[in-house]
Amino acid sequence: TTQSPLGGARNDSCFCCSMESGVRIYNVEPLMEKGHLVLIWDDARECRDAKDKLVLEFTFTKPVLAVRMRHDKIVMVLKNRIYVYSFPDTPLKLFEFDTRDNPKGLCDLCPSLDKQLLVFPGHKCGSLQLVDLSNTKPGTSSAPFTINAHQSEIACVALNQPGSVVASASRKGTLIRLFDTNSRDKLVELRRGTDPATLYCLNFSHDSSFLCASSDKGTVHIFALKDTKLNRRSALARVGKVGPVIGQYVDSQWSLASFTVPAECACICAFGKNTSKNVNSVIAICVDGTFHKYVFTPDGNCNREAFDVYLDICDDDDF
Ligand SMILES: *[C@@H]1O[C@H](CO)[C@@H](O)[C@H](O)[C@H]1NC(C)=O
Ligand SMILES: *[C@@H]1O[C@H](CO)[C@@H](O)[C@H](O)[C@H]1NC(C)=O
Repeated sequence: TTQSPLGGARNDSCFCCSMESGVRIYNVEPLMEKGHLVLIWDDARECRDAKDKLVLEFTFTKPVLAVRMRHDKIVMVLKNRIYVYSFPDTPLKLFEFDTRDNPKGLCDLCPSLDKQLLVFPGHKCGSLQLVDLSNTKPGTSSAPFTINAHQSEIACVALNQPGSVVASASRKGTLIRLFDTNSRDKLVELRRGTDPATLYCLNFSHDSSFLCASSDKGTVHIFALKDTKLNRRSALARVGKVGPVIGQYVDSQWSLASFTVPAECACICAFGKNTSKNVNSVIAICVDGTFHKYVFTPDGNCNREAFDVYLDICDDDDF
C-alpha cells in the first residue's frame, strides 16, 4: 500500500497517518482506528496546548464526504445517509435521511434565518429532495418533497441565499436548471454548452442576480439571472400580480460571460464580495494551486484582475 506516516504518537494516546486517500487516526491503548472524524476547532481560542482548541468531535463508522454548516446546525453527508445535528452547543442529532448513492456528498444547506432548507439527491435518479428543517419535528419522518430535475444523475446542486431557488446540473453537464423551492416550478434553464462536461461547482451571487459554474472544460461561466423569469416573477410577486407559471416552456439561456482556467482540473468558483471598489467579481480556485479573479460587467465584458499560485504565496513561518 502507499501510506506515508505523517505524525508520530501524540499525547501518548493517538497517532495519525496520512494516506493518499486521506488521514487515518488511531488510538494507542488499545490500538484501534478511531473511525471517521469530523473535528471542529476554534483557532481564536487562547490556550497553551493546541489540542485545547478542539471544540467538537463527531465520529462515524463510514467516511464523511461533505460537511455543511449554518449558525445553528451542522450536516454530515455520508454515501447513503445524511445526519443533521444542532450546533454549536452540545450537539444533538436532529434528523437522519437515507439517500440514494451519493458518492460526491452532494448537499446544500440554506444559511437564511427564515428558511432552513436542505437539498440533496432524491431516491429517484435525477431528482432532488428538499426538506425544510424548521417544519420538520426531530425524530419524525418528515415530509420532504421532490423535484424531478434531470434525466441522469445529479452532479451539482446549490441553493441561493434565501433558499427560494435551487440550481442543479446532471452528469451530462450541458444544462443547469433552476427551480422555485416553494412551487417546484422550473424557472429557467441555463446552457453551459452543447458537449457533455463534468460540472464541479455552482454558486449564486449574494443577491441571486448571477450564477457561476465551473467544469472540466476549463471554463467558468457567469449567467445573468436578472432578466430571467426568476427575478421577473419575484418582482411581479411583490406587486402581487402573478399566477402560477406551470408547464410553460422556457428557452435555455447562454451565459453572459466566461473565462478560462486550467482544463480537467477540479475548480470551485464563487462571487467576490460586492463593495464600492469591487463590483461583480468571480473567483476561481483550482486544485493545481492557481487562483483566478475576474471582474465582469452586466453587459458581458469580463477581464482578469488577478492571477496567482496560492501554494507559493504562503509565509513559511506560518507553518
Ligand atoms: C460555492 O460552491 C462550493 C462548492 O459547491 C461550496 O463549497 C461553497 O460553499 C459555495 N460558496 C458560496 C459562497 O456559496
Ligand atoms: C453587486 O451590486 C450591484 C449593485 O447593487 C448589483 O446590481 C449586482 O447584482 C451585485 N453583484 C453581485 C455579484 O452580487
